[in-house]
Amino acid sequence: MTIDSAPENELEADLAGTTTGREWWRTAVIYQVYPRSFADGNGDGMGDLVGITRRLPALRELGVDAVWFSPFFTSPQNDAGYDVADYCDIDPLFGTLDDFDRMIAEAHDLGLRVIVDLVPNHSSTAHRWFQEALAAPAGSPERARYMFRDGKGADGSLPPNNWQSVFGGSAWTRITEPDGTPGQWYLHLFDASQPDFDWNNPWVREQFRGVLRFWLDRGVDGFRVDVAHGMIKAEGLPDYTPPEGSGSMGGAGGVDDIGLEPEISVEEDEPTPPYWAQEGVHDIFRDWHEVLAAYDGDRVLCAEAWVDPLSKLADWVRPDEMHQAFNFAYLETPWSAPALRRVITDSLDAFTGVGAPSTWVLSNHDVIRHASRLAMQNHVQGHGLGPKSTNKPDPALGLRRARAATTLMLALPGSAYVYQGEELGLPEVVDLPDEARQDPTWFRTNGERYGRDGCRVPIPWEADAPAYGFNDTGASWLPQPAEWATFARDAQIGVPGSTLELYRLLLEQRRELDLGSGSLQWLEGYGEDVIAFRNGAITVLANVGDVPVELPGGGDVLLASEPLDGSTLPADTTAWLRS
Ligand code: NOJ
Repeated sequence: MTIDSAPENELEADLAGTTTGREWWRTAVIYQVYPRSFADGNGDGMGDLVGITRRLPALRELGVDAVWFSPFFTSPQNDAGYDVADYCDIDPLFGTLDDFDRMIAEAHDLGLRVIVDLVPNHSSTAHRWFQEALAAPAGSPERARYMFRDGKGADGSLPPNNWQSVFGGSAWTRITEPDGTPGQWYLHLFDASQPDFDWNNPWVREQFRGVLRFWLDRGVDGFRVDVAHGMIKAEGLPDYTPPEGSGSMGGAGGVDDIGLEPEISVEEDEPTPPYWAQEGVHDIFRDWHEVLAAYDGDRVLCAEAWVDPLSKLADWVRPDEMHQAFNFAYLETPWSAPALRRVITDSLDAFTGVGAPSTWVLSNHDVIRHASRLAMQNHVQGHGLGPKSTNKPDPALGLRRARAATTLMLALPGSAYVYQGEELGLPEVVDLPDEARQDPTWFRTNGERYGRDGCRVPIPWEADAPAYGFNDTGASWLPQPAEWATFARDAQIGVPGSTLELYRLLLEQRRELDLGSGSLQWLEGYGEDVIAFRNGAITVLANVGDVPVELPGGGDVLLASEPLDGSTLPADTTAWLRS
């Protein structure tokens, strides 16, 4: 090695051994497919792999680089597939392994990378590993796969500690032993049908190495890792009471309710809950990093980790751990210029500091769609919206802000995530009838929280077809709103100014101008409510306030989230100008 190419500091030395700095995932736009609701090939009302495969060309046309699929594995579907009963097979609802092989081949032919969901914090109670644990005695190796504990009190009838499930109610359920007597308790941070693994057990680690290899051998380009902040629990499982207002996706190290203050809620001195963000998770990620590194190509691990603050989340993506982490601090930032400037700066600082790309995300299958959320005064993550909600958003304002927010997001350097349907401008569905709801949150809180069904409704493809082209029978596992014809893909394609055409233009220009690998320089002088920066060849101006502002003289507008009125940038509008 010559002196010139020698790493200048420790970070570069680390990077040299693990990443090249040119991997596709550093700049990729990754589209989330929620298989239940994307496209239904067999007409039973539930999306499936055959349906997805047919519709993949639309994603190529949209201009994304990769697709992340929420779970399609064997599952009783108590948590829409995040309760896995076999990690190495496809649920018959969605198809077969052959269907998967055809789908990934088609995606790769179209130039789309494929990321699958790994759910390692918990399995389903229907998994053979858990069923064997139930049949085996307390203290057995089978029980040691999960978090079984004796109850408190003279007869063990009280749960081992006070932890609450993210979906509501106790995080412990008592089993009946094989001989019929009331027995031990098992931990489930989510639904009672989702028992937590004991990740201190080497047996569990070995099984999951096998799961990773199974999918890597089938050609996947990476994994989105569910609950990557929860796999290790604090020694002794101490009691813990979260602060008031904590959101139900379970933030670590801070609160995750949003929208109350025009600031990101970062409570640096909040104690870390004993079930989130424990140091021990990092060994697991280092182990997986090596498993992926043994494969050709650039395979990626992306952490779903609700960890505050960003400086702590950066530990998840150190050079030998995960490659990316979802930037939920960004998603949770209210529509406020100072708050957005701050979270963008903090994100770039935190991730760049460890040699990782920042990611950006506004919507997914767990949160109120941003075309509704950005017009809301306040809400708590995971509680959802329903007919009786008192804080229903104005749809026109929400859509306008969503378009401006996406136009801002797709100008940022790094990698971005897009959730199916946001390219159509879909709002949250607010009026789902109670009997249609399926989210365990709804059941575990006796209807007190609506949960996440409102962002999971099957998406519209064709304005005049049954189920808007989701399938050809009209069946739909969640009812689609009557007014969704106007959002259908075929009603927007080729229509100047439609949300779909805006997304296509943004993605095309982002790629052409290589904004993903650019860098951001803040610009001053546009006023408190305007976010202004330069990235490579463009200047980006986002007017987050409610007063129009003058565009800089000579500004050559490349694109804008709304039609511009002469040389002014209207309220809730973002424009890209040629610098
Ligand atoms: C996060 C997933 O995104 C969510 O949908 C799921 O309910 C929980 N993890 C539990 O797996």
